[in-house]
Amino acid sequence: MVKLNANLKNLKKNYLFVDIQNKAKDYISKNPAAQLISMGIGDVTLPLSPVITKAMQDASREMNDAKNFRGYGPYEGYNFLREAISKKYLDYGVEVKAEEIYVSDGAKSDAANILDVLSSESTVLITDPVYPVYLDASVMSGHKIHYVSATEDNEFLPLPEENLKADIIYICSPNNPTGAVYNRAQLKRWVDFANINESLIIFDAAYEAFIESSDLPHSIFEIEGSRKCAIELCSFSKSAGFTGIRCAYMVIPKELKVGSENLGEVWLRRQSIKFNGVSYITQKAALAALSPEGKEETLKCVRYYKRNARILSEAIKELGFWYTGGENSPYIWFKGPQGMKSWELFDYLLEKANIVSTPGSGFGSNGEGFIRLSSFGSYENTLCAAQRLKSIKF
Ligand code: MLT
Repeated sequence: MVKLNANLKNLKKNYLFVDIQNKAKDYISKNPAAQLISMGIGDVTLPLSPVITKAMQDASREMNDAKNFRGYGPYEGYNFLREAISKKYLDYGVEVKAEEIYVSDGAKSDAANILDVLSSESTVLITDPVYPVYLDASVMSGHKIHYVSATEDNEFLPLPEENLKADIIYICSPNNPTGAVYNRAQLKRWVDFANINESLIIFDAAYEAFIESSDLPHSIFEIEGSRKCAIELCSFSKSAGFTGIRCAYMVIPKELKVGSENLGEVWLRRQSIKFNGVSYITQKAALAALSPEGKEETLKCVRYYKRNARILSEAIKELGFWYTGGENSPYIWFKGPQGMKSWELFDYLLEKANIVSTPGSGFGSNGEGFIRLSSFGSYENTLCAAQRLKSIKF
């Protein structure tokens, strides 16, 4: 008799952003005149830059011709894109070889799928609060989960504690949801911990494009010793507006082994079973995003969102609420008035300011009392949201 994966019963009923979407839909059906401003899910809103759309048009036209037609691509991605990503790492003083790069359809899928090749007897360490995908994927695959607390006291940047044990460690910096960013010395503590304990760090760098301060690392590979214990996930979603197009990559250093096996080879085996690669047109678009013109155009978009983040941070500061993020990150994470729970505050913002936010408790119990705001909306909506926030009574 067919049965469902027994681990599914340990999941929450819905993915967090589905709950939020349902709440917003319900509100709008009861209040059709409300002008909701969406600051919940971190989805980009600016159009694709012209160099990217041109590359997609050219690539599809190329395939009109039998000589240039392409079917299945390489499971690990086309070399032209892997070479360009490898060059991008040089901007951060990091050497990553093209062969160490595995192109995929999303950092979210990579973050979850990597668990396919890691024993379910391994313990997974995640922060509380955490991007729900690390937790839900670990629950589904039956991995044991340990938490490390991220709180106001450690500015939402927890470090390895004494007696901590973990085989797999998820680190996201700039962090989703808190917007906090690890510096080099702090990341070194995690790398040293992983090397001593023979653990694997899964470093999610999906928001690295938002880092401006030169003392903050964009990549785990800026940290000495990381090539022996870390893999990195990165994406074109937030840096180049690809949330709907889908293109990302995983970096697995050649020397990285799990037991006696080379992790890159094992991952490629997994990908060749379950994945048929990212389309040629999409990879050409990603290549265009990494061209000098593409970098300039996409940086303008990142700066636009960063201006929104500043507007929101200033409003929160004026209101006197404790917050992190908003500087090297598109997310602002703030603590509401004393005693107010996250979902209460979510409802209050929805009703009084018509703002859709994300309740901090949806990311873990340490998020209780907090709200996450996304800066990926339009400038006009962000200004309006800041005004509304400052005008309601807390
Ligand atoms: C978020 O809002 O946390 C992100 O958009 C979700 C994602 O990137 O999957």
